[in-house]
Amino acid sequence: MNCKTMKTFSAKEFLNPFLLLLLFFPSFHSLDNTITQENLIKDGDVLVSKDRGNFALGFFSPKNSTNRYLGIWYNKISEQTVVWVANRDTPLYNTSGVLSINNHGNLVLHDVKNRNLNALWSSNASVASSNVSVSAKLLDTGNLVLVNNNNTVLWQSFDHPGNTLLPFMKLGLDRKTGLNRFLTSWKSAKDPGTGNVTYRIDPSGFPQLFLLKDKAAFWRVGSWTGERWSGVPEMTPNFIFTVSYVNNESEVSIMYGVKYPTVFSRMVLDETGHVTRSTWQAREHRWFPIWDGPKEECDNFRRCGSNTNCDPYNADRFVCECLPGFEPRFAREWDLRDGSGGCIRKRNVSTCRSGEGFVRVSRVKVPDTSKARVDNMISVRECRERCLGDCSCAAYASANESSETGCLTWHSDMEDTRTYTQVGQILYVRVDAHELAKYEKHPYGSLGKKGMVAILTITVFMLLFLGFTFVFWFAKARKQGLRRARKYSFRLSFDDSPSLKEFDSAQNSDLPFFDLSSIAAATDNFSTANKLGQGGFGSVYKGLLSNGTTIAVKRLSKYSGQGIEEFKNEVVLISKLQHRNLVKILGCCIQGEEKMLIYEYLPNKSLDSFIFDESKKSQLDWSKRFNIICGISRGMLYLHQDSRLRIIHRDLKASNVLLDSALNPKIADFGMARIFGGDQVEANTNRVVGTYGYMSPEYAMEGQFSIKSDVYSFGVLLLEIVTGRKNSGQYEDITSTNLVGHIWELWREGKTMEIVDQSLGESRCDLEIQRCIQIGLLCAQDYAADRPSMSGVVSMLGSDSTLPTPKQPAFIFKKTNCDSSNPSTGEGMYSVNEVSMTIIEAR
Ligand SMILES: *[C@@H]1O[C@H](CO)[C@@H](O)[C@H](O)[C@H]1NC(C)=O
Ligand SMILES: *[C@@H]1O[C@H](CO)[C@@H](O)[C@H](O)[C@H]1NC(C)=O
Ligand SMILES: *[C@@H]1O[C@H](CO)[C@@H](O)[C@H](O)[C@H]1NC(C)=O
Ligand SMILES: *[C@@H]1O[C@H](CO)[C@@H](O)[C@H](O)[C@H]1NC(C)=O
Ligand SMILES: *[C@@H]1O[C@H](CO)[C@@H](O)[C@H](O)[C@H]1NC(C)=O
Ligand SMILES: *[C@@H]1O[C@H](CO)[C@@H](O)[C@H](O)[C@H]1NC(C)=O
Ligand SMILES: *[C@@H]1O[C@H](CO)[C@@H](O)[C@H](O)[C@H]1NC(C)=O
Ligand SMILES: *[C@@H]1O[C@H](CO)[C@@H](O)[C@H](O)[C@H]1NC(C)=O
Ligand SMILES: *[C@@H]1O[C@H](CO)[C@@H](O)[C@H](O)[C@H]1NC(C)=O
Repeated sequence: MNCKTMKTFSAKEFLNPFLLLLLFFPSFHSLDNTITQENLIKDGDVLVSKDRGNFALGFFSPKNSTNRYLGIWYNKISEQTVVWVANRDTPLYNTSGVLSINNHGNLVLHDVKNRNLNALWSSNASVASSNVSVSAKLLDTGNLVLVNNNNTVLWQSFDHPGNTLLPFMKLGLDRKTGLNRFLTSWKSAKDPGTGNVTYRIDPSGFPQLFLLKDKAAFWRVGSWTGERWSGVPEMTPNFIFTVSYVNNESEVSIMYGVKYPTVFSRMVLDETGHVTRSTWQAREHRWFPIWDGPKEECDNFRRCGSNTNCDPYNADRFVCECLPGFEPRFAREWDLRDGSGGCIRKRNVSTCRSGEGFVRVSRVKVPDTSKARVDNMISVRECRERCLGDCSCAAYASANESSETGCLTWHSDMEDTRTYTQVGQILYVRVDAHELAKYEKHPYGSLGKKGMVAILTITVFMLLFLGFTFVFWFAKARKQGLRRARKYSFRLSFDDSPSLKEFDSAQNSDLPFFDLSSIAAATDNFSTANKLGQGGFGSVYKGLLSNGTTIAVKRLSKYSGQGIEEFKNEVVLISKLQHRNLVKILGCCIQGEEKMLIYEYLPNKSLDSFIFDESKKSQLDWSKRFNIICGISRGMLYLHQDSRLRIIHRDLKASNVLLDSALNPKIADFGMARIFGGDQVEANTNRVVGTYGYMSPEYAMEGQFSIKSDVYSFGVLLLEIVTGRKNSGQYEDITSTNLVGHIWELWREGKTMEIVDQSLGESRCDLEIQRCIQIGLLCAQDYAADRPSMSGVVSMLGSDSTLPTPKQPAFIFKKTNCDSSNPSTGEGMYSVNEVSMTIIEAR
C-alpha cells in the first residue's frame, strides 16, 4: 500500500465512506438491543449493541451485489466491515426479510409473507421446553446471543464464525461437545457464501493451527510455543493484545483479546487463502495490518519434502536443504533444484547406540507435530535423555518456548521445517557419530567457510599472543625473582589510584556479589507479596537482608543476549555511575540462569504514584515538582554526557523515577539497555524496549535510538509532571490523540495554563510553569535534530534566557510504517497507554 496516498484525504474521498454507509445500511430506525418474540427485525432495522454501540446487526448487501444478507458489522467504522453473516448460502433477493424468534425459541430468518415456509436460516439450538421465554441480544463484543429467562446462553454467533475472528471469540475445539469453531472464507468479496479456504486447529498430536484450501493443508501456522504460533514470528507479546491458549481435556482453543475497548481489531481469512490480523486506524480510515500470512515460499506446506529444512535465505536461491545427518533421496532431481523428493538418512551409518548425538538447528519452525509425542511434564534435558535412549527418536525440541519445558519428540519423517531470520525455536536432530564429529569440530558450521576461516585466524593469533606473553613474563619473572617482595608492595600502592580502579575487571571490584540463597531468603522466595513491580526487563522485589538493610531486587528476564562475564563487566561499570539523582546499585547476583541487580530501597515509591494519584498529588507542590524536574534533568545529563559510559536510558518514564524520603528524584533502570546488549551512540535495533507514550517516533517506528530519544521521553515526563496527567491517559476534556498533542494546541492558542495541574499549591509560579511547558514541547518535537540536548535543557531550566519556539510535536499516530513485513514496528503502534512493554525480535 502506498503511504503517501493514504496520508492525504480530500473532502471528496472523505465523504465516500459516508455515502456508502447510507447506501448499504439504511437505518430507518434503531431498536433497543433485544429481539423477542414480539420485537422482530425487518430489513431496514438496525440493532445496535448495548453500552458502547460498537456493533450493529441488520440486513446489508455486499459491495457490487443486490442480494440481502443478515449480518453484524462495526457500527462506528465508516467503511462497510461485516464481521458475521447468518444466511451465508441462502441470500434474500429482495428486502422482505425478517428476523424473529419462533415458537421453539430459535432465531429464524424468513420472508415476511412466508413465515410458515422453511426458514432461510435458523439458529437451530435445542431449547428444552417450548414454553421458556427466550430473547436475543447483540453484545458489545459483536456476539449475538440467544438467552433464556435465566440468562443461560442457548446459542451464540461466536460459536459459528464466518471469515472473521473477533477479540474474545474462541477458535478451536470443544472436546466435550465436539463443537469445532473455525474460520471459513467467503466465496468472493461480493458473495459471503461458504468458500473453500478454512483456518482451523487440528487437535491431533500436539495441536496445530492450519490454513487449508479445499481441505488440503496449505500453510501450517504451527503449534503454540507458549507465546505465539511457531509459524508466525511477528506475533510478539504485546500490551494491547492478550492471547490465551488452552489445551486440556475439555478443549483446545485460542482466544485473542484487546485490553482497550476502543481498539478495533480483527482477523480475516480472505478467499485467496490469506489471513490478516489488523487494527482500525480512525485517523487514516483504514485497516492497518499487524501480521499476516502465508508470506514466503517456505510457508507453503511441505515445500521441500520429508526431512528437509526450507531456508528462504539460502545463498544459492534453492530453498531446500537436508536436515543434518540426511542426504537427498534423489540426488539428480535435487541438483536440478527439485526438492520435493525430500531427504533420507545417510545410507551406511548407524544412529543407534553407536556414539550418536544431536545437532542443534536454530531459529526454525519445528516439524509438523501432528504425529509427534508430547510430554509437558519434563525438562528439555530429560527430553534429550529420553530421545537419546530411544533409537526411533529422530529429533526433539522444547514444547514451551517461554519456560523451556515440555518435550516434543519425532519418531518418523519430519515434515515442513523452515528457518527464520531472527525468532524461532531450536530443533535438536539426531545424527550419527561421524556427522556429530563434523559439527563438533566446526561448531560454527553455520557461519560458512568465511566465518570459520576468520575464527580460526583469530584463535591462532590469540594463542600465539598468549604464548609470547607467557614466555616474556616467565623470563622476566626469573630474572627479577629476588626483587619480588618489593615489587608487590609497589603494586599495592599503585592499585589505590582511583583512575585505574575504574577500569578494573569484575573480579577485583568492590561490587558485592550476593548469592541466590540470601536473596531468596531476603525476598521470601520472591513471593508475590514482596513484588514491587514489573517492567520490560524483569520483576522487582522488596527484600530484607539478614543485617537489616532493606533492598530492592531486580530479577532480570532471561532475554539478556550476554554471557556471564560480559554481564558482570557491564554491571560493574554501571555500578560506578554515581550521581545523587540516580538510584544506587548495591550489588548483583548471578547464579545459573538467574541474573539479579540489588538496589537501594526507596520507601517513597515512584513519581507516578504521586502525580497521577488524586489523593497524593497535592503532596507535590510546584516547588517540589520543579525540584524533581531539575533533578531528573541533571541525572539524565550525567548519563548522557558526564559519565564515562554515555548511557542512553531508553525507558525514562514516571514509574522509573523514584523518590527518596525528602522527595528528591532518583532515576532507576539506567544502563539496562547496555546490560541487555547495545551501547552504541546511535543505532538501529530490532529489540525495541521502552514504553509507548514516552517513545520518540523514530525509536517506536524505526527502532532508531539516540540520546535525543531520551530527550523526547524527558519532554513527555516534564509535561506530565506539570499537568498531573498521563500522556496516554484518556481524559474527557482532551480530544487530541494524547496529552502532548493537546498541550501543543493549547500552546498555539496561548492557553496552556488551562491544563496545568490544579493541585500545585501556593508555591506555584506561572512564569516558571509556562517556561517548563515550552521546554517540554521543545523536547517532544517530531524531528530528533530539533530537540535540545540534556545540557541545553539543564541550562534552559536554570536561566531566564529566551527560549526557541517549538515546532509541532510528534504524534504517535501521525506517521505510519507501511512496510507491514517489518515486525519491529508491530502491534504496538496503536498504543494509547502506559504499560511498560518489550518487543523482542532478536535473540
Ligand atoms: C465493484 O465493481 C467495481 C466496478 O465494476 C470494481 O472496480 C470494484 O472492484 C468492485 N468491488 C468489489 C468489492 O468487488
Ligand atoms: C421476495 O422474494 C421471495 C423469494 O425469495 C418471494 O417469495 C417474495 O414474494 C418476494 N417478496 C417481494 C415483496 O417481492
Ligand atoms: C439442526 O440440528 C439438528 C441436531 O441438533 C441437526 O440434525 C440438523 O441438521 C440441524 N439443522 C440445520 C439446518 O443445521
Ligand atoms: C406452557 O404454557 C402453558 C400456558 O401458556 C401452560 O399451560 C403449560 O403448563 C406450560 N407448560 C410447561 C411445560 O411449562
Ligand atoms: C431457571 O432458574 C430457576 C431457579 O433460579 C430454576 O428453578 C429453573 O429450573 C431454571 N430454568 C431453566 C430452564 O434453567
Ligand atoms: C476455491 O473456490 C474458487 C471459487 O469458488 C475456485 O475458483 C478455486 O479454484 C477453488 N480453490 C481450489 C483450490 O479448488
Ligand atoms: C509455558 O510455560 C509458561 C511458564 O511456565 C506457562 O505459563 C505457560 O502456560 C506454558 N504454556 C504452555 C502452552 O504450556
Ligand atoms: C480447561 O481449561 C479451561 C480454561 O482454562 C478451564 O475453564 C477448564 O476447567 C479446563 N478443563 C479441565 C478439564 O481442566
Ligand atoms: C559410507 O559409504 C561410502 C561409500 O559406500 C563411504 O565412502 C563412506 O566413508 C561411508 N561412510 C561411513 C560413515 O562409513
